[in-house]
Amino acid sequence: MRKKIVAGNWKMNLNYSEASELIDGLNNYDNKSVELLIFPPALYLDLAQSKKGNLGLGAQNIYPADKGAFTGEISPWQLKEMGIEYCLVGHSERRSILGESNSFLKEKVDALINNGLKVVFCCGELKEERESGNQNAVVEQQLKESLFHLSETQMESVIIAYEPVWAIGTGLTASADQAEEMHAYIRSLLASKYSDHTSENTSILYGGSCKPENAKELFSKENVDGGLIGGAALKADSFLAIANSF
Ligand code: PGA
Repeated sequence: MRKKIVAGNWKMNLNYSEASELIDGLNNYDNKSVELLIFPPALYLDLAQSKKGNLGLGAQNIYPADKGAFTGEISPWQLKEMGIEYCLVGHSERRSILGESNSFLKEKVDALINNGLKVVFCCGELKEERESGNQNAVVEQQLKESLFHLSETQMESVIIAYEPVWAIGTGLTASADQAEEMHAYIRSLLASKYSDHTSENTSILYGGSCKPENAKELFSKENVDGGLIGGAALKADSFLAIANSF
């Protein structure tokens, strides 16, 4: 059985005391059937690690090298040593604002897997790509060029997050049917590249304006295993309400 997961991507939000307060509001989380993950800014990983309770903890980004002359970057080797378990890769903001390509994302995936970290791999199409009916081809290319070189065993360390770019931070959510259709498509790609076993066991999260009001409907779909949440993850009550929407 694949895991149900609700993950909070805090992006570049919250100051130190707000971050601390949010972790306090979440760390008594005790729902054994849904894993709750948080991705705070790197500055607060140490704080989060010291008081996270049952929460899973991840970084928002790495540079794909263990150490060296990469001013301002953080490495998967450093994260591993701190006991951080997860990292986001391929978020649309890093693709579009920081210009990260599928081949660079592949390097990040490898650097993380080689250090024993789990990857939350984000994929998703732009508004114009959906309008022209190209969403499946776009997502397929993102997966093929950054992820599908992994072995079947390595894929066990990967969670996929489908995030249509037009739905991120815009208030526009994909309909539950649109999400289900893409998740089923991703699962079919996993089955043909790997196996039914990998396809059935890989968690696929939906992201893009997911909030307490729409989470129940999205999570009721067979192939939607949870969410990657931005704005609604910044308050403990809304984040927990989403986690309790299964
Ligand atoms: P949002 O962000 O929930 O604010 O749309 C989701 C994400 O970017 O992961």
